[in-house]
Amino acid sequence: MTTPMLTVEDLTLAVRRGDDSKPILASVSLSCARGEIVGLVGESGSGKSMTLRTAVGLTPAGSDVSGRVRVSGQDVLNASGKELTKLRSRTASMIFQDPRAHINPFQRIGTFLAEGLRIHQRLSKTAAARTAQGLLEEVGLPDPARHMRQYPHELSGGMLQRVMIAAALASEPELLLADEPTTALDVTTQAEIVSILLRLRRERGLSIVLVTHDLDLAVSACDRIHVMYAGSIVESASATELARAPRHPYTAALFAARPAPDRSELQAVSGRPLGLYEVKGGCAFAPRCPKVIDLCRETAPEPRPVDGHLVSCHRTTPPPLDRSSVLTKGERP
Ligand SMILES: Nc1ncnc2c1ncn2[C@@H]1O[C@H](COP(=O)(O)OP(=O)(O)O)[C@@H](O)[C@H]1O
Ligand SMILES: [Mg+2]
Repeated sequence: MTTPMLTVEDLTLAVRRGDDSKPILASVSLSCARGEIVGLVGESGSGKSMTLRTAVGLTPAGSDVSGRVRVSGQDVLNASGKELTKLRSRTASMIFQDPRAHINPFQRIGTFLAEGLRIHQRLSKTAAARTAQGLLEEVGLPDPARHMRQYPHELSGGMLQRVMIAAALASEPELLLADEPTTALDVTTQAEIVSILLRLRRERGLSIVLVTHDLDLAVSACDRIHVMYAGSIVESASATELARAPRHPYTAALFAARPAPDRSELQAVSGRPLGLYEVKGGCAFAPRCPKVIDLCRETAPEPRPVDGHLVSCHRTTPPPLDRSSVLTKGERP
């Protein structure tokens, strides 16, 4: 069996502030096989970015972290600073929601890309420029030679996100961690960026973790999806299976809350999402859950397999049978 590209097991993270400790992630487990596109979906503040950053050793200063994280077999949580730099410059690349926040506005696109290539691949100036232009072509920009000479403000958000994907490819990574890469873009451009990611997976054999709050987008792009709520994964399943029959009430609520042509009314998930630090025991979704019972408020549910999904919910297995309803007449006392 080949080593998975990414495995996160039982990852727990809290950020220390003076004497206080703010829990952020609770026992997160997820994986991404080689060549797989995995979605990490959940409302804002659920811990998606923190999970992704921890996967490449970028935790906030003063974090208490436990669990296991492996990228291509390498132990991330126990790696040295030097090993992490190497990991981030060779094996795993990240792209972010707002490309403009991650690019120098006074630097030409060509210079920006070539700089990365010269550092990562130790290319000569000419070779770096040639490779940079090739990368712009690979991410589908219409006029790579011209874009090389342009400044970031001359490109649209969608074009700039393609430049960022090109930059992420400069180190020839095996794993791409994409944190809401399409959130700031219009719907058509979103679809273009997703199709580029799918093509890169196909052509380069890239493994991709796609963080998004857009469930439809995740279902259309991903092989498997992990749904996150208040710092925990509440449901994991293949994308088709999740869309066909969501098992966790939170996943079901997310599906019901999305706009669809066949739905005249939107059903927002009632209540507001909680941060893990606000959860006072029991299931974090209990205050918003339409299926809540006393047990949910008392005990946090453990993940368990249900019809090919992994679900953390007390209500996903049928309640104990009411024996009187199934006893045959003869058995009735
Ligand atoms: N550097 C930090 N220090 C302390 N808390 C943080 C830091 N970054 C994020 N958080 C908190 O961690 C939780 C998860 O954040 P994040 O991973 O950014 O969520 P998401 O990406 O799902 O929107 C939030 O409650 C957020 O306020
Ligand atoms: Mg985020």
